Amino acid sequence: MPKHLLKLLDYSRAEIEEILNVADQLKYEQKNGIPHSFPKGKTLAMIFEKNSTRTRVSFEVGIFQLGGHGVFLSSATSQMGRGEPIADTARTLARYCDCIMIRTYGHEIVEELAKWSDVPVINGLTDRYHPCQVLADLMTIREHKSRLEGLKLCYIGDGNNMANSLIVGGLKMGMDVSVACPEGYGPHQEALDFAATVTDAKFSLVTDPKEAAVGADVIITDVWASMGQEDEAEARRIAFAGYQVNDELMALANPGCMVQHCLPAKKGQEITEAVFAAHATEIFDEAENRLHAQKAVMVLLMQ
Ligand code: CP
Ligand code: NVA
Repeated sequence: MPKHLLKLLDYSRAEIEEILNVADQLKYEQKNGIPHSFPKGKTLAMIFEKNSTRTRVSFEVGIFQLGGHGVFLSSATSQMGRGEPIADTARTLARYCDCIMIRTYGHEIVEELAKWSDVPVINGLTDRYHPCQVLADLMTIREHKSRLEGLKLCYIGDGNNMANSLIVGGLKMGMDVSVACPEGYGPHQEALDFAATVTDAKFSLVTDPKEAAVGADVIITDVWASMGQEDEAEARRIAFAGYQVNDELMALANPGCMVQHCLPAKKGQEITEAVFAAHATEIFDEAENRLHAQKAVMVLLMQ
């Protein structure tokens, strides 16, 4: 295992598979009241420079269930918000805690934190990647479909942190990945460069959502304006009209096609109320699996 979880690009297929297997085991243990075998008293610093519901709660509950303790820091009340350098924050937190999770803006902030930290750093979302979410997505798809390899994963919408991590994670696990984004809103070049190197799975990037959805086994979408893009929300609403996961689009997918959404969702924009309601069980399984997938990451990085 790499020391940190900054992006799935740093992980091999076998390593991702190991995380998913440990996550399944931890989920089984938790559901059946079987104690986890993990050293007690580990501590996790959780830095949030952006809002969160799922990431905050699943990490804090997760470390608690593992017999440890989570410490919440926000930029509003920590010295980070007053400009203390990342390098000094990393070197301080690493003296108290066994692991650091951070949700922030630029991906380079997470890289800098990891550079200076003696303890593992977990990316809880940056503008470029959301690896913890995609581990939960892969876990959920595997749970529902019993496999990942050979399935077609289709992403509709903004070429954002979710799109980038899904391209990398899906292709690494042998899934065919099709992405539909409006012109000018495509995925990050780093994810596209990786996709270009993959030979054992198909990748396509198109502008037509219908073309991308044909034969899909799972359709995934995300908000049109991510955190930090609030000022662009109106312009994006116009640019993304037509990039909605609705019944018409679902009709092009394979029978039994799943829907995943990292949440929060803007129903009526990227997904209709009807599609969300029809796939709510899968979507909230996905939210639940954040807990199990992240516990697996913490176990593997802190052991
Ligand atoms: N999906 C996700 O990361 O949710 P939060 O923003 O609520 O953490
Ligand atoms: N793309 C979204 C994901 C939220 C979990 C954002 O970055 O705001």
